[in-house]
Amino acid sequence: MPLIVVTSFKGGAGKTMLAANLAVGLRSVGWDVTAVDANPQDTLKLHFGFDAVDGRGVAGSGVDVVPFADDTSGQVSELIEAAARRMVIVDAPSLPSASARTFARAADVLVVATPTDAGSYAALSLADAQTFLADDGVVSKAIVVANQFDQVARLQRSVLALLHETFGDKLAATIERDPIVDEALASRRTVLLHDQTSKAARSLVALAIHVDRLCSPNGELN
Ligand SMILES: Nc1ncnc2c1ncn2[C@@H]1O[C@H](COP(=O)(O)OP(=O)(O)OP(=O)(O)O)[C@@H](O)[C@H]1O
Ligand SMILES: [Mg+2]
Repeated sequence: MPLIVVTSFKGGAGKTMLAANLAVGLRSVGWDVTAVDANPQDTLKLHFGFDAVDGRGVAGSGVDVVPFADDTSGQVSELIEAAARRMVIVDAPSLPSASARTFARAADVLVVATPTDAGSYAALSLADAQTFLADDGVVSKAIVVANQFDQVARLQRSVLALLHETFGDKLAATIERDPIVDEALASRRTVLLHDQTSKAARSLVALAIHVDRLCSPNGELN
């Protein structure tokens, strides 16, 4: 059963948004999906219409959403014993926290959310990122997702070009900065269920298809 871990090298990169939308996108192509929140802030459930939930629930999306619990790592191990067509998606903390490293090592696919604005670029040393990925032996399963990309900003285009140059094929998707993302969250829905025709939704669907291919029987993981 594939374990998809979503992380980043800085906070606010879009991990929770990506985890929620990957869960819905992969559910729609036939996976049974459990989405687990590994952050004490416990915001993943907000994308699924929960307010305050003790325990877990299957939201209208068909995704089994597991809110944060102190023993999230233990829960994930239990979930991994489940059926073959079930996938677990973890909304992990940012690297290099110990918890994110543990999840990164256990992952079959490691999704690294990377914003393309100048501030994030300054905070993220690409060399450090590459060293971390190589050191932890996770480079082969890591994919990079450029998020909150603003096509109009020249500096952002340069950052995206640099990400392409640095990560090559590993740069699996670029998600535009799109007001629909916050609008969807305000409506307590994932982007994919809120407005499938939006730019962000189209890119998120393409990302879900990419991850599906990696995890399918003839995919690169198998
Ligand atoms: N492509 C996008 N376009 C517009 N807004 C976005 C996009 N991606 C994320 N956001 C917004 O950016 C904010 C941070 O996103 P999110 O909470 O998913 O990041 P995170 O990496 O999970 O943060 P944290 O480190 O706090 O857990 C949210 O308000 C989200 O709605
Ligand atoms: Mg988050």
